[in-house]
Amino acid sequence: MQNPQHAPTAPATMTEASRLLGSDEFTRARDQLLQVVEAASRGVAGVRGPRSDVLAQSYREALRQFQKDRGRDLFFPFMASGIGHGPWVELADGSVKYDMITGIGINFFGHTHPELMRAAIDASAADIYQGNLEPGVEVAELLRALLSRVDSGSRLRNGWITTCGTMANEIALKIIRQKKTPATRVIAFRDCFAGRSTAMQEITDNPKYREGQPLYGETAYIPFYMPKLGLQGSLDLTLCALEDHLQRYPGKFAALMLEIVQGEGGFNSAPREFYTRVFEVAKRAGLAIWADEIQTFGRTGELFAFQKFGLGDWVDVVTAAKMLHASAVLFTEEFNPKPGLVAGTFTGTSASLRVSKRVIELLDQGYYGADGRIERLSARFASNLERISGGSCRGLIGDWRNVGGMIAVQPLSGTLEEVKAVLMRLFDLGVVAFYCGHGPILIRMLPPLGAMNEGHVDEVCALLERAILDVAAARSSKGTGA
Ligand SMILES: Cc1ncc(COP(=O)(O)O)c(C=O)c1O
Repeated sequence: MQNPQHAPTAPATMTEASRLLGSDEFTRARDQLLQVVEAASRGVAGVRGPRSDVLAQSYREALRQFQKDRGRDLFFPFMASGIGHGPWVELADGSVKYDMITGIGINFFGHTHPELMRAAIDASAADIYQGNLEPGVEVAELLRALLSRVDSGSRLRNGWITTCGTMANEIALKIIRQKKTPATRVIAFRDCFAGRSTAMQEITDNPKYREGQPLYGETAYIPFYMPKLGLQGSLDLTLCALEDHLQRYPGKFAALMLEIVQGEGGFNSAPREFYTRVFEVAKRAGLAIWADEIQTFGRTGELFAFQKFGLGDWVDVVTAAKMLHASAVLFTEEFNPKPGLVAGTFTGTSASLRVSKRVIELLDQGYYGADGRIERLSARFASNLERISGGSCRGLIGDWRNVGGMIAVQPLSGTLEEVKAVLMRLFDLGVVAFYCGHGPILIRMLPPLGAMNEGHVDEVCALLERAILDVAAARSSKGTGA
């Protein structure tokens, strides 16, 4: 008699994991959990103060202890409670604020987003962290999702998933150097930001971020586009500096690194021709074009800023992170590194990798193009800012700019002290924002456009208007001794 354990069975067409995720029991349990969270989340819709004096007191104590443990104060007294609703985030004292900086660009879809939570719950049976040696299906699917969305004009064919923007940039630099050896140096734009590792802090154009650190002399800077000089004036300056570096150190430069829209540097961008004329010279000298899209990814009105600016056929290496919820470096076949150059224990958590793929899929749903949600809400910010700067805040807003979901406003004369004063007032009024630029300094917003409507934009702009007016009034009453 045949051992029943070895009886022939139909070949399985499903893994245990996909059977679990497709099962009624799992789906029911997940939907129930999502409903419970959604109900709690609705309780934090709308700006409010601390829930009680008791909570406010324990919050102050928790902040004090945390700052003591860090050995450094927080920028503002912010500690999230662990829940939010769309553009609103709850703090650990039960107060609720509009989150217009979203962890410096992580939460484009706002807080407690049901679709992203669903993706995270689907990772509950997988290993918490995945590594390079034994990747899960999530890594493969995420990489495919990214590579399948670069245009046919682009030459990006391969990629690597990793944990944060700096790590993606490290990989980008290494694969470029390996390909371009013996050239090692990088040309970067003034005011750029690349991260804070030993190599990236040298590319990042901010001496304050590398105090006491060694400089290996690997980066040379060229000026970025300056609106006041116009296209030709800017090109004259930039190309002159670029040619100068290339002639001074022939064969030493491996890459031109750029943020197509500068993030930390103040949301600066240029007309397409500025980039292409600079790329032409760089390419002729054999430099790789490396676009750091860590902050711009998903945000400018196309998935990549190189698509928005029509630069797909120029870029050799591209890095993305922040709202991706993971990080990636994409590259052309010729930059595929030799074995051993790129590896590492962690690729990411199974939850973040699943969420990452879902972010890309959600962005496909009406976010891109001139009529897409990003441009629509960006235009709403713009019309509010135009009205305020020409009306109640005339003379109190030096400048403002918007590139898709990157909104920056220069209040008053744009000193760090004044901008901080406005940010703190704004925080008290119920909006969390941050700053960017190296002078003038601007208020920086990376809003959760995936969870906002026109009404939210109007409310945030009204609170910003009030914050600027309040700080201006306080300054003038101090000036008059009132
Ligand atoms: C343009 C750019 N590059 C690199 C980084 C570094 O990324 P991460 O902080 O994820 O390491 C950032 C972060 O702000 C960035 O904006």
